[in-house]
Amino acid sequence: MSKLFTPVRVGRYELSNRLVMAPMTRSRANEDDGVPYDSVATYYDQRAGAGLIISEGVYPSAQGKGYVHTPGIRTDAQVEAWRRVTDAVHSRGSRIFMQVMHCGRVSHPSLQPGGTLPVAPSSIQPPGQTWTTSGQQDFVTPHELTISEIKQVIEDYRQASRRAIEAGFDGVELHGASGYLPEQFLASGSNKREDEYGGSTANRARFILDVLGAMVEEVGGDRVGIKISPEMNFNGIVDENPQATYWELVDKLNAFDLAYLHVALFGAPIDYHALLKPRFNGAYLVGGGLDQASAESALAAGRADATVFGAAFLATPDLPERFRQGATLNEPDRSTFYGGGDKGYTDYPTLQTAKVA
Ligand SMILES: Cc1cc2nc3c(=O)[nH]c(=O)nc-3n(C[C@H](O)[C@H](O)[C@H](O)COP(=O)(O)O)c2cc1C
Repeated sequence: MSKLFTPVRVGRYELSNRLVMAPMTRSRANEDDGVPYDSVATYYDQRAGAGLIISEGVYPSAQGKGYVHTPGIRTDAQVEAWRRVTDAVHSRGSRIFMQVMHCGRVSHPSLQPGGTLPVAPSSIQPPGQTWTTSGQQDFVTPHELTISEIKQVIEDYRQASRRAIEAGFDGVELHGASGYLPEQFLASGSNKREDEYGGSTANRARFILDVLGAMVEEVGGDRVGIKISPEMNFNGIVDENPQATYWELVDKLNAFDLAYLHVALFGAPIDYHALLKPRFNGAYLVGGGLDQASAESALAAGRADATVFGAAFLATPDLPERFRQGATLNEPDRSTFYGGGDKGYTDYPTLQTAKVA
């Protein structure tokens, strides 16, 4: 018996199914003001068969921006454009959370207000390059945040959460994965601070917990989730004892009565799902390389409350319907993942449009 198509409680909401669309940056916002293009509403509307959509990463402040053509949630114009997205998704009976993403050191002065340095817990240059308006450029040595600047960043997350709700989102997800600012604080390799935000595991987890505290205070724990990817080691993240780090973090999350914990695994050496799910008191979302069969078996085995699909949902707008019918999926076109127009964005066929064509 399929569990994918049974309802599930996630925080304040009962989702109509256990298929969640993963947060995916698509870089379809105006470069100058971070306002999503009109087509963004169409894109999410097409994928609203999901029980829950998690939006692409959205920066809470201009300083949090790390990629060209990514959207923000700060100005009235941004809120208004997102309102069109949430209206479209709600009119199809689905739910949508906004992923709040502050890239920290994984940015570039050319993407920062006034060409300033990106910020981080410590002034350690990440390895690698980033795509800017003038092509590929090396990451730079970031500015180490002062305590008062950290408090401001936490306020920016609070403000972003409030504005997301104003824009009609059902909740907010803290992007705590993929080597962005929260994980830069959490991991020992990128955090060499000697104050209360660095050193011990408890101190390195403090930034995430303070940010969540502000988000929860603003919108309620039952409308807040967090995404983590233990041992993904992306964007130069290294931690001396990741297992101890994640045990401590997840144990402390329970104080917030969060809607969900979203864990995406990419070849981690241990079975984090088996170890983390029992420790967490909200809904547990599993992602990373799933297909229909592995999602069903994770649900059947009690390893997940809901299952998260990325590239498959990107390429197959009617993914839930295809699963119901056992139909084949569209192939994702990687060349159109980031930026550009409607090609590879809103023009993937559904079973219905394919019939008409
Ligand atoms: C085009 C693209 C953009 C992505 N952008 C984000 C993002 O903004 N935030 C995030 O947390 N993960 C992002 N991811 C990762 C996905 O959320 C997901 O964890 C990953 O794709 C694994 O799931 P899958 O194997 O089902 O695709 C992105 C993935 C893709 C393919």
